[in-house]
Amino acid sequence: MEQTETPAGDDLLPWSDPEFIREPWPWFDRILRDHPIVKLSDGSYVISKHADVMKYAKHPTLVSVSPDGIGDSPWAANLNSVLLTEGERHSRILRTFSTWLTPKMAQKWAEVAADSARAALDRMGPDGVIEAHRELGVQPAQDAMAHVLGIDREDGFPYIHATNLTMMAMGWDPSGEEVRRANEGFGYMMFQAETLIEKKRANPGDGQLLDEMIKAADEGRLTERELKESIQILWGSAAHNPGQLMASALVDFADNPDVFQAYKHDVDAREHILNEVIRRSLPEMALDRYTTEPLQIRDVEIPPGTRVRFILGAALRDPEVFPNADEFDYHRPKEASMALAFGLGAHRCVGQAFARAVGRAVIAVLVERFDKVEVVGEPVWVRSDRHRNCEGLTVRFS
Ligand code: HEM
Repeated sequence: MEQTETPAGDDLLPWSDPEFIREPWPWFDRILRDHPIVKLSDGSYVISKHADVMKYAKHPTLVSVSPDGIGDSPWAANLNSVLLTEGERHSRILRTFSTWLTPKMAQKWAEVAADSARAALDRMGPDGVIEAHRELGVQPAQDAMAHVLGIDREDGFPYIHATNLTMMAMGWDPSGEEVRRANEGFGYMMFQAETLIEKKRANPGDGQLLDEMIKAADEGRLTERELKESIQILWGSAAHNPGQLMASALVDFADNPDVFQAYKHDVDAREHILNEVIRRSLPEMALDRYTTEPLQIRDVEIPPGTRVRFILGAALRDPEVFPNADEFDYHRPKEASMALAFGLGAHRCVGQAFARAVGRAVIAVLVERFDKVEVVGEPVWVRSDRHRNCEGLTVRFS
């Protein structure tokens, strides 16, 4: 294996090629095999091996925003959130909501998600056909988050669409149109977050999370801007990745009827199956970080101020850890950790327990009632070189 020097690196990862965006796996397999560290012509580096991603993506000298600043990226809208802050400020913001998302709390919130899924299935006609992305992926998670925050339930789909718009601007080289639409997505979600905060300030006192976070702002533990961005993330994107996870699970179950049966009858297999679903669903394909000091990876010294992209989507199919990566194999060893799909290090996903609990609760409802799932028509996938999500999946249960 060797480091790849420019310009070959750019050909190895054709970020804007529609085929690459749809199914990047052959390109990933090639870099995993021959070029574990790729240098691109703009000086950035790409890391793909599972061992390297596990070791370096959490390196404490890496940060989420370039030392040169974020420019006019639409993601400047999240500069005051956990996503794009570091150190003490990051921990301070995170503390205002993380204890509400522990595995134990998530277990409680997941009951709301299960009720929401049951209600959707009760509304389903005798043909067993349902728009499953919205009804079983998005809405149960959105309803659970409404409960956590202590706010009214709302249709979750407009938030998923808005988040998808923002995610397109996280691609390697977003077009002017993608940037414009990402600004629209953020505009919509910030307005909604502002409205929720105003409404709660007018009617405080239920002791749920939004109440608590407003208290934190009133006591000076959060700035108003940090409050607004945190609520935008929690309310605006709580159901985004869980929607993709559920859509992906249903497609996996449709393609592998034996796995649906195993989930139904073998309680011990459930966590393993969910892990394999998560490995394959991969809403976040990559993490982008910036060096603040020289960083040595293998025999390469990466200079400060360099963008480094860790490709989770490649690491999670590294043949040294995941043989036959295309196969749905829920017997993979535990150390072949699917948790990588939730990121790692200081910015690892704080919603992991929530997403897992919601997924478990909804699938439990499905296997309680049905034996089989089939996909009806074509799912609507929304993809970039950085993210994979869904905006439509119809299925038939029997
Ligand atoms: C299948 C579901 C999910 C997946 C695969 C997922 C994946 C990820 C990943 C990969 C990151 C790291 C991003 C980075 O380092 O740049 C992340 C961060 C984050 N996620 Fe999730 N996520 C999911 C669900 C959720 C949910 C349901 C919530 C909210 C309840 C949530 C809230 C967050 C937040 C706030 C961060 C930023 C944490 C920080 O920077 O400290 N996620 N997520």
